[in-house]
Amino acid sequence: MGARILGIESSCDETAAAVVADGREILSSVVASQIDIHRKYGGVVPELASREHLRQIVPVVREAMTRANLQFADLDAIAVTQGPGLVGALLVGITYGKTLAAALGKPLVPVNHLAGHVHAVFLEAAKTGRVAKLPAVCLIVSGGHTVLYEVKQQSAVPYEEGGELTYRKISQTRDDAAGEAYDKVAKLLGLGYPGGPILDRLAAAAGDVPAPVKFGPTKTRGNALDFSFSGLKTAVLYHVRETPEYATEIAAREAALARGERNFEQLLPLCSTKTLALIREFQNAVVRDLVERTLVAASQLHAESILVSGGVAANSQLRTSFEERARAAGLEVLFPSRALSTDNAAMIAAAAYPRFCVCAFADTSLNADAGLALS
Ligand code: KG4
Ligand code: ZN
Repeated sequence: MGARILGIESSCDETAAAVVADGREILSSVVASQIDIHRKYGGVVPELASREHLRQIVPVVREAMTRANLQFADLDAIAVTQGPGLVGALLVGITYGKTLAAALGKPLVPVNHLAGHVHAVFLEAAKTGRVAKLPAVCLIVSGGHTVLYEVKQQSAVPYEEGGELTYRKISQTRDDAAGEAYDKVAKLLGLGYPGGPILDRLAAAAGDVPAPVKFGPTKTRGNALDFSFSGLKTAVLYHVRETPEYATEIAAREAALARGERNFEQLLPLCSTKTLALIREFQNAVVRDLVERTLVAASQLHAESILVSGGVAANSQLRTSFEERARAAGLEVLFPSRALSTDNAAMIAAAAYPRFCVCAFADTSLNADAGLALS
């Protein structure tokens, strides 16, 4: 057994810990989600997130060690998300990680959360012995991020043997992240939080009734590869406001949510065919913009593969569309499993491995960096 790294992730609303060997093999991965706490506010409340991380961090790390069947003394390093994320939330993981590393006399490896999302794809590929071909274009698409990176090997050592990677940002969202648009549209339609999973399923149930409104591709001035989702969200809002017949069903769904009835089977009968077609049209627009720009970037940069990660990478239509378009372009597309798409600590422990190999350690002065860039 090679290097065993304990990863700790607390950048947003998931408290997570995992042990990964050599950046490839997941020995354990524990995620405590705070969705139930933030649901009634329709989004993550930073103050509540920090408090919940404080409550969860110790049991979550213990559980990860137990499931890996390891003692703290067996670890080779502690890795912790340094940023980007919510500063109060990050500080919980960092303080705990620093303390643990100092108490055990083990190295501390700071990790960029976005590098974690890239490594989530590699972790998934490693499960089936696959290796992503580099250079790649990576789309990270979640509730907090929508960004395209070019990912290259830094040296002759391949990434799967711990070689370091270089990341170059190609484009990003000018306004809302794609997941944020899903969450806001779901909220205005009375479909609860988070919006992605329920809208994904309702869009698939829409059939082919005509859309009540059409959303064209968004254009961004300057960098044509930048994304923008707030205009789409506002277009949905105006359409719903201008169409009084939606009001009754929205009220009925909000009443159902208040009774705790929030799953697909409970909400589907409360959606008219018109609402389902509207959701399908919204999702078509999001998926089209994400896939188009990623493929253009891949072609411009002569990428050998496309990597897609982050919470929205769980979307079924996004996956199918990427698979079809990438195949047509002769490119390989790789996704993490749904569990590795959303925030987790296995991806943090995996991203720490190349840093561990070059002894890129932090000391006790390590601080959270809410806006940490990936380069
Ligand atoms: O990566 P993540 O767990 O947290 C961060 O935002 O960092 O992503 C959560 C986001 C939420 O906005 C959620 O609505 C969206 O991912 N999401 C989805 C799906 N599952 C989760 N969006 C579209 N389709 C899905 N199936
Ligand atoms: Zn994330």
